[in-house]
Amino acid sequence: MSPPEHFLVAYEINPWMRADQPVDRDRAVRQWDALRTALLDLGHHVHVLPSVAGLPDMVFAANGAFSVDGIVYGARFKYAERSAEADAHRAFYESAGGWKFVPPTQINEGEGDFAYLPGRGLILAGHGFRTETAAHAEAQEVLGRPVVSLRLVDERFYHLDTALAVLDDQRITYYPGAFSASSQRVLAQLFPDSVLADEADALAFGLNLVSDGHNVLVNTEATAYADKLTAAGYHPVPVDLSELKKGGGSVKCCVAELRAA
Ligand code: ARG
Repeated sequence: MSPPEHFLVAYEINPWMRADQPVDRDRAVRQWDALRTALLDLGHHVHVLPSVAGLPDMVFAANGAFSVDGIVYGARFKYAERSAEADAHRAFYESAGGWKFVPPTQINEGEGDFAYLPGRGLILAGHGFRTETAAHAEAQEVLGRPVVSLRLVDERFYHLDTALAVLDDQRITYYPGAFSASSQRVLAQLFPDSVLADEADALAFGLNLVSDGHNVLVNTEATAYADKLTAAGYHPVPVDLSELKKGGGSVKCCVAELRAA
């Protein structure tokens, strides 16, 4: 995670961002800290990547890379405003030790558009707005896992992690309307037992969640969606990230998951 000490809506690269919208940075830091504390309370270890002045979106750490079994496929951001973030993430993995970092040649925004299902050894990957399909092929070569390409069609859900999340080893949750008709068929074929979300759930950033297989950290606004998680046997833990939503992100965007070897 990277603290929102320099968070700002300084440019508009997704429909949620309004450059004229004031941001309460202290409040953003408090909300981010509550998320970090919630992760610690659940027994996770959290590495903090220092924020960098001039990189106002760096709080969205999920976009910095994508790791599977100790191999890290680096990010290459679509927009110049964020491109330097990739170097900070690369430096983290290279100095931490134990990771094999592979620099990308293709545009991809890390875990924003890549998800991993450990129980099936499968990578799910989004394209349409940020990550390019050539990066899906590159990720498959780098990580040695099959990549299922999914096309996003609704610009409000511009990253895969705004429309789909992994709940446990086998199961996913998603909002079908964010995907092309063909990608919806692919998801229905591969994951018939998914927890389905509706448009309101997705707009409340409910799908931008982090799950440990039972406890699911989920945006507070997504109350109806949290009830669906409960009905499916999970334990939702609400987290208020309203300030960061002004940048177009919530829980998952703030957390880069480290899948060690
Ligand atoms: N303002 C950021 C952008 O548009 C938000 C990124 C959200 N991160 C995510 N993993 N969905 O790039």
